[in-house]
Amino acid sequence: MSLTGPLSVGFDFGTTNSSVAVATAADAVHLARFPYSGGVTESFRSLLYLERLREGSRNVIKSWSGPVGIDHYLQADDKGRLIQSLKSFLTSRSLQTTEIFGRRFQLEDLLANIMRDIRASVETQFGVPVTHATVGRPVRFVGADSDEDDQYAVGRLEAALHRAGFEEVSFEMEPVAAAFYYEARLDHNELILIGDFGGGTSDFSLLRVGPDYRQANGQTRNVLGNEGLALAGDSFDAKIIRHLVSPALGAGTYLDSNGKRLPVPNWVYYKLERWHHLSLLRSRETLNMLESVARQSLEPEKITALLYLIQHDLGYQLHRAVQRVKVTLSHAERSVFRFTDGDVDLDIEVTRADFESWIAEELSDISIHVERLLSKTGVRGEEIDRVFLTGGSSLVPAVRSIFEKRFGADKIQGGGEFISVAHGLSLRALHSQS
Ligand SMILES: Nc1ncnc2c1ncn2[C@@H]1O[C@H](COP(=O)(O)OP(=O)(O)OP(=O)(O)O)[C@@H](O)[C@H]1O
Ligand SMILES: [Mg+2]
Repeated sequence: MSLTGPLSVGFDFGTTNSSVAVATAADAVHLARFPYSGGVTESFRSLLYLERLREGSRNVIKSWSGPVGIDHYLQADDKGRLIQSLKSFLTSRSLQTTEIFGRRFQLEDLLANIMRDIRASVETQFGVPVTHATVGRPVRFVGADSDEDDQYAVGRLEAALHRAGFEEVSFEMEPVAAAFYYEARLDHNELILIGDFGGGTSDFSLLRVGPDYRQANGQTRNVLGNEGLALAGDSFDAKIIRHLVSPALGAGTYLDSNGKRLPVPNWVYYKLERWHHLSLLRSRETLNMLESVARQSLEPEKITALLYLIQHDLGYQLHRAVQRVKVTLSHAERSVFRFTDGDVDLDIEVTRADFESWIAEELSDISIHVERLLSKTGVRGEEIDRVFLTGGSSLVPAVRSIFEKRFGADKIQGGGEFISVAHGLSLRALHSQS
């Protein structure tokens, strides 16, 4: 499809999924589609896969991003490095560079590699250069303790976007963008609460939307307040790993060291919880340590399974199995966690009630932040006309239920889980040009 005229581009660079929308008019928003395994997807996985290849007498490092990156990773016999959730590292001042295959890469360059591929794909699809974009940012980045930390993260995001060929970028809060998506179909004014639950962050905005406010060209003056916290789907996954997977791989078990009963070192399992850290465990030192633990373990088959997982770098596959369970529990009361590969043979029943008990702390944190937003804006719950929930993790029933209990089930609406932010960002770009 070829579009003409000035394009208003909205770019949602998510922790897990990215999407892009292009608006040519308020009622003409087009979502970018990315090729994937013979089909297409509107959600581009925000990941990068790197491999070291031999070209003639030289070693070169090649990278692929998104769905193509996943394909390359899955097809590779000798796995390279798969990196995900990079957005969560933006506030980390200690992470300026990371070493991959003996070469140092700046975080901004790794991000730019993903963004450049997305930009090229959008240009190909729409047949025009894409150099301007309105880009989403969470209210509070993962790891941010202050506005200064958030500004630092935005600065790095901007640097990455420039390196990826975006010459001019402006930023908008992700939940505010989601509100523009919701507002597009509204024929009356409303006071709304937006909850956007992604992979890395949960973000809230309280704002007035509707025909009267649309006139204000999407200016943020309709926003009464924002609030955000750095936990979402990735944290839910981590809890599934902690309670379901790690115990089956030896967490909490003991070894016999010359007659002394010692616990198996638990730091290994913390790494497992952030699954993309799993490949970092594949060092000779850690493997030697685990081999020795396996020899002394009172439940050696569990440690052997863990070793197998690390040696074969199965973090991505493990994570997919965790996600499958989580997604199934969004529509079923029970599920089975299954993972079979070599020495690993896991088949564990799990109920939605188990899952909800594991994430109770996260759910309570979410409630606290919603209350904080209400109290700092001085808005009472009953004044809110509608609660719009979006983002992949809004599909978790326990997340929804927080809002149903607080505001009444009839006020809750969901939708556009994976595209609302990009869609709204493109409308924001369009408004600010008019
Ligand atoms: N049906 C489902 N039930 C529960 N969780 C789901 C479901 N579908 C997707 N998710 C989770 O939603 C998250 C991704 O959502 P989304 O694409 O909105 O995040 P993101 O925009 O990449 O992240 P962020 O906004 O934090 O930067 C993942 O953690 C994924 O496991
Ligand atoms: Mg998001």
